[in-house]
Amino acid sequence: MSKLLLALLLLLTGPSLAGATEEPVAAGAEAAHEGEAEHVDWHSWHAGNEVSNLSSLQRGARNFFAYCASCHSLKYMRYSRMAEDLKISTEQLQQFILPPDAKAADYIVAGGLSPADATNWFGKEPPDLSLITRARHGGGDYVYRFLKTFYVDPSRPTNANNLQLDGAAMPAILSDLGGVQEAVFKEVESVVDGRKVVVKEFSHFELSTPGLLTPAQFDSFVRDTVNFLDYVGEPTQVARRQIGVWVVLFLLALTWMTWLLKKEYWKDVH
Ligand code: HEC
Repeated sequence: MSKLLLALLLLLTGPSLAGATEEPVAAGAEAAHEGEAEHVDWHSWHAGNEVSNLSSLQRGARNFFAYCASCHSLKYMRYSRMAEDLKISTEQLQQFILPPDAKAADYIVAGGLSPADATNWFGKEPPDLSLITRARHGGGDYVYRFLKTFYVDPSRPTNANNLQLDGAAMPAILSDLGGVQEAVFKEVESVVDGRKVVVKEFSHFELSTPGLLTPAQFDSFVRDTVNFLDYVGEPTQVARRQIGVWVVLFLLALTWMTWLLKKEYWKDVH
């Protein structure tokens, strides 16, 4: 009986009890067919992030404040709430995260960049990212693909373009870490309305300058960052999952006690 309960419990709670399950995502070269140049199917990339993984969330927060917060705000999230949820100590918050003029109870603002400057430099104001994983089709996977598909494009003012968001105004700010990638396109003939047209189809990336991180490390960097944004989009999911485990345990205990009670009541009837 107890084995059965345990099995049921593991089944119900899944990876949140099993802890940090970091499934490696095949993000790099995937040979499509033998003999052909390797084709990268970036549309099917998954972030594979796990919101119950606290250390991943902490690393993601660190990444966000180091690389994104200069341009992007999180206007629905307070510094203090984030610190509480992610178990970031008050000292760490003061020392590494809080801007000098901000209080812990403030909402997370974009540091430094004024909207007017942003519009001048990028032609667009960097959007608030509080709800980005919920606003975009594909959620966290969308943001993951966005962060991993910047490529060199001299025709763009930022010298960079993006497969997920063609003509993106955001510069390839992570190329120090992930490296500078060139995108290789091939020309494919297809028939549209009975007419033959030649379309450019993405084939694969070539790393022209390696980054400070290995591809696997960069992948984890992006996954952690996406994980953090996923949490910010729905902060209660962390607490909800923790509470969920206790609810399931409680229900199982209750079922067991009810069963004992039933046995007790019926034991003289037969
Ligand atoms: C130098 C300023 C700057 C920095 C730093 C920056 N971004 Fe951006 N970001 C932008 C701008 C500008 C846009 C608007 C792009 C557009 O709509 O074309 C943007 C857009 C986005 C979007 C929305 C894409 C969409 O579909 O609309 C996401 C997601 C994003 N950034 C994530 C990040 C993350 C994560 C980081 C940190 C790793 C980061 N950004 C760092 C300037 C920046």
